[in-house]
Amino acid sequence: MKVSIIGGGGRVGSDAAFALQLGGIVKEIALVDMNADMAAGEALDIRHGSHYTSSQIITSSGEYGVMEGSNCVVITAGLRRKPDESRLELISRNVGLFNTILDGLKSTQLAPDATILVVSNPVDILTHIAVESGITSPSRTIGLGTVLDTCRFCSLLADHFSVPAKDVNALILGEHGDSMVPIWSSANIGGISLSSISGFTKEVGQSIFDFTKKSGAEVIRLKGGAGRAVGVSIKEVVEAIALDSGRVLPVSSLQSGKLGISDISLSLPTRVGRNGANEVLAPAVSDSERDALHASAAALKEVLGQVKSAV
Ligand code: 2OP
Repeated sequence: MKVSIIGGGGRVGSDAAFALQLGGIVKEIALVDMNADMAAGEALDIRHGSHYTSSQIITSSGEYGVMEGSNCVVITAGLRRKPDESRLELISRNVGLFNTILDGLKSTQLAPDATILVVSNPVDILTHIAVESGITSPSRTIGLGTVLDTCRFCSLLADHFSVPAKDVNALILGEHGDSMVPIWSSANIGGISLSSISGFTKEVGQSIFDFTKKSGAEVIRLKGGAGRAVGVSIKEVVEAIALDSGRVLPVSSLQSGKLGISDISLSLPTRVGRNGANEVLAPAVSDSERDALHASAAALKEVLGQVKSAV
């Protein structure tokens, strides 16, 4: 399988490429970036590690041609907020850049059968715009969504309770943003409900969730931008596509009725395979979790409306 990463010279794109190299599942990785030298530097650096990792074809370019024949296109390119710029202004500029990328993909027809994985923020809004652009079928257009938040949440819970992070299952659903929703109903460690774990209280759980929610901002404050956990989260989704595994991951996709949510893209548990979102699943949630997911959908619809009238 060939994966192209648009924004592959940037922090998130190159960390995703490195994670895919360590995963060793995909055959070919193409890094595309307006900054062709950065993409070339990252590709060369990654290729230098092949001897100890995996035999893959790693290419780079400032032009789209290198993406020809991709089975998966990951879009990580995005702009940063300028001083004094409002959130909506940044969103509008990012939507402009994102539409240029979609137009480039459409007009070149280099990867007509690819599954598109949107990572750039605001990820749910951009995923929705990509679906509406008709670039490919709605199910083949997915966003990283709360795969990253779920990864952070499970890892931080594992730190707190001193258990292996892979034993923790605690979903975050809804928006990858302020209205994200922790699903306490099904959270467990090794199959044991989180609420029965010694030392767990609602306050402890809430403070770990609060830290999870602001973790992206904290990493930006400390090192300028997140990359490693985003990179491994992208790898999980890309490898589910490559292996057609049907793995259940909280990717963002266009919702059409599960849990009563429709006409907006956000994260619910989803079976991911070669064709993107194979099936969205409706998890058992409490009434308050359902209400919070509806509020998350409403918040996203409001931003989408604002973006559409601003662009
Ligand atoms: C984050 O939460 C970049 O959206 C990404 O760190």
